[in-house]
Amino acid sequence: MTNTLPTYPDFTILQGDCMERLTEIEDNSVDTIFADPPYFLSNGGISVHSGKQVCVDKGDWDKGGTPEYIYEFNRQWLALCRTKLRDNGTIWISGTHHNIHVVMRCLQELGYKVLNTITWQKTDPPPNLSCRYFNFSTELIIWARKTVKKPHKFNYETMKLLNGGQQMTDVWRIPAVSSWEKQQGKHPTQKPLRLLYRIILAATNEGDTVLDPFSGSGTTGIAANLLGRKYIGIEQDEQFCDLSLRRRQTLEDDKTRQKLFDKMRSTPEETTVLINHMRDTDRENAMKTGFTYMRAGDSKGSLLVKEGFERLGYLCLHTNGDNPELFKLAKKGFQIWTAEALREKGFSAENAPYYAVMRFDPLKSVPYDQPIDLHKRLYTQVARIQPLSDFIGLK
Ligand SMILES: C[S@@+](CC[C@H](N)C(=O)[O-])C[C@H]1O[C@@H](n2cnc3c(N)ncnc32)[C@H](O)[C@@H]1O
Repeated sequence: MTNTLPTYPDFTILQGDCMERLTEIEDNSVDTIFADPPYFLSNGGISVHSGKQVCVDKGDWDKGGTPEYIYEFNRQWLALCRTKLRDNGTIWISGTHHNIHVVMRCLQELGYKVLNTITWQKTDPPPNLSCRYFNFSTELIIWARKTVKKPHKFNYETMKLLNGGQQMTDVWRIPAVSSWEKQQGKHPTQKPLRLLYRIILAATNEGDTVLDPFSGSGTTGIAANLLGRKYIGIEQDEQFCDLSLRRRQTLEDDKTRQKLFDKMRSTPEETTVLINHMRDTDRENAMKTGFTYMRAGDSKGSLLVKEGFERLGYLCLHTNGDNPELFKLAKKGFQIWTAEALREKGFSAENAPYYAVMRFDPLKSVPYDQPIDLHKRLYTQVARIQPLSDFIGLK
């Protein structure tokens, strides 16, 4: 590894073969493992990248071997990983049909208990050029715990909140890795930070230790550190070790760190919150009736729908920035009412002819712990939309 790169107490990169370097890690010390092992699919296929035909080969480490070799390889690292996990620890392994069935067999043979098989649905897959198959748009991620008997760590409520208050399902719609994640250099199979964000949040708490035996560009470690978890990564390729440390170095700058964190936790699918400033009298009425409203038309009466509205699941009411309360919408979406109809219900709608009316249960406010700056755009009736994660205080 290049000597000039700094080291970090919460971000350790071990260069070398994971079969050897895993043995150096203390047994029963790791809370969760994410592994993105070779899929063994680099056999000369083609795909499209930025409109150009490209070879899908990732590197020598990804070239296929005999079925026996692939089985032995997976069994060996999975056995080593198991000894490193705490008794309530879990492991996540990504793959496609090329490797995932062998991984599943090894997990079962080694005494792990499989918890879920997550389908990661890429929202932006490249086209299939051969037109002889359905387009490949998913990867699978097996989630398993160390033992059959010992319960595992799972932040169920956090996942539910991230999913707008509904149980999170095993289909995750997340875009592939984006250019903002490749500022320090590229890895051919880099995973998106958004995927690791969800995995790490689901299975660990602040201060926990996350291990990745096929660390690549260190995505798992960057997500772990952004979430206040410690990281140990193993990677055989020196250039990728350097790339990981360069990525880690950028987190030393507070602004970059915050920017990455915000990007990582926002997804195009995320539930949004409508922040609605209400006058005292309207607010009282809203709490009586379970309705709230915002201006929905401009002076010509056309509907004004802002980006994120389609994912609206919550609203935050406040009065001049004070007494904010968060509510889940009783029904997704909104109805359009005239100002007159609102006035009949005792509201003081007077700026526009039409209003978007939303229903909520005033008796069930949702606790949240992230301070939101509600004093911005204080006197406007045009609501702001913010992601739900801004409210739920995930660090
Ligand atoms: C699929 S990539 C992981 C990419 C990573 N998830 C990321 O976001 O950058 C697999 C990585 O494992 C490394 N690798 C393959 N076999 C290895 C081994 N036996 N020990 C350590 N690293 C290995 C490869 O060099 C490659 O960088």
